[in-house]
Amino acid sequence: MNQQIWNRTEWFRSERFGLFIHWGLYAIPALGEWVMSEKRMSAEEYRQRYFHCFDPTDYNPREWARLAKKAGMRYAVLTAKHHDGFCLFDSALTDYKSTNTPAGRDLVREFLDAFRAEGIRVGLYFSLIDWSHPDFPKYNDRFHPMRQNPAYQDEEICFDRYLDFMHGQVKELVSNYGKLDILWFDFSYDDMCAETWRAEKLIRMVRQYQPQVIIDNRLEGSGEKNGSITTDHPTSYSGDFTSPEMIIPPQGMRDIHGNPLPWELCATMNNHWGYCYHDHCFKSPETIIRKLVECVSKGGNFLLNAGPDARGNIPQESRLLMQAVGSWLEKNGESLYGCGISEFEKPEWGRYTQKGNIVYAHIYETPLGALPLYHIPPQRIRSIRMLSSGAEMQRGEAWNTALYSETAFVALGENPVFSYPLSDPWDTVLKIELD
Ligand code: GLC
Repeated sequence: MNQQIWNRTEWFRSERFGLFIHWGLYAIPALGEWVMSEKRMSAEEYRQRYFHCFDPTDYNPREWARLAKKAGMRYAVLTAKHHDGFCLFDSALTDYKSTNTPAGRDLVREFLDAFRAEGIRVGLYFSLIDWSHPDFPKYNDRFHPMRQNPAYQDEEICFDRYLDFMHGQVKELVSNYGKLDILWFDFSYDDMCAETWRAEKLIRMVRQYQPQVIIDNRLEGSGEKNGSITTDHPTSYSGDFTSPEMIIPPQGMRDIHGNPLPWELCATMNNHWGYCYHDHCFKSPETIIRKLVECVSKGGNFLLNAGPDARGNIPQESRLLMQAVGSWLEKNGESLYGCGISEFEKPEWGRYTQKGNIVYAHIYETPLGALPLYHIPPQRIRSIRMLSSGAEMQRGEAWNTALYSETAFVALGENPVFSYPLSDPWDTVLKIELD
């Protein structure tokens, strides 16, 4: 593992939980952020339909920030520009930006100010792809809305001009908006990766303005491909963490030698990133909490997405979910922030996370009688407390555990032979102090 990457990501590997926000013109058709590509809309058509009516009168990033804080999220990443090319910031290089819509404001700046004011670290997502730029490849591109439109077959473009523009916009973001904690580029595919983006030059420029910013790995990769960060010789643009999408890597993320790498799961609360009016398939708080625990137990972060609607509101279902997760974290966050992979193997009733000599047992399943603390040597256990209350928990060794003396047990109530329902059915956490 590259030491510089490891050092730079120290806060990132500790904060563990962040908010992703996908927001742009696509909130109006309300079918997700790929609608332009899916419906094969030309840049002109898309712009004509949505640009002039983007008017998010309810946009109040202070409210978003307070909600994120209540949810226990420690950082937030907003789509400054998505694949459609529309900018939520006041770019001098295009007129296709929020300041020229009825919104009339630099929404990125307001987002940054609001989240910083709540003490939440800030990041910006920037699409390497731009479906509205005249010099971006169209015909036969894998994803472009005009990929099968013969009108573009013989079109001449100047990709260098696109790159100048794209680099220029990144420069605006890294030089005009104060200190950024994260830059989230998205994404590379086929030949559209690495030096095709003039990546080395881009990163040199970014680091000049933002030496400490943490960058994802998508100048080389995507959710499908990690790039050189896993190798002994990462490029200057390998990024600082890998970005598995909608999947928790079965074994966490490691370099070719098996050393843990920084990584961040990004996932949606329902099944879309951008707002989708008919998608009510929201995950439960229990699922989100347990997936967050799983990420941390495998050394990773969780960037959980919300897609605000066209008026600028985070959907009610998302808000309720965030509040529920936040109330659990308020009592149990200590078991995740600053924690990582445990030295002990995963117990069959849940997960372990660890910080120094403290192991946190995340219990998902009601035991019959005392709970076996698998893999933790009984003599190493100094004390056990219920994390949410601080209550002392008694060891569970009794006449019926005598045959299993290599295993430590904890009683979840006064009588180790009785069965007690879990005090928190989502995840009951014990704090185990070791010698
Ligand atoms: C994918 C999609 C994109 C989304 C991103 C989030 O790469 O192209 O719409 O923003 O995933 O990770």
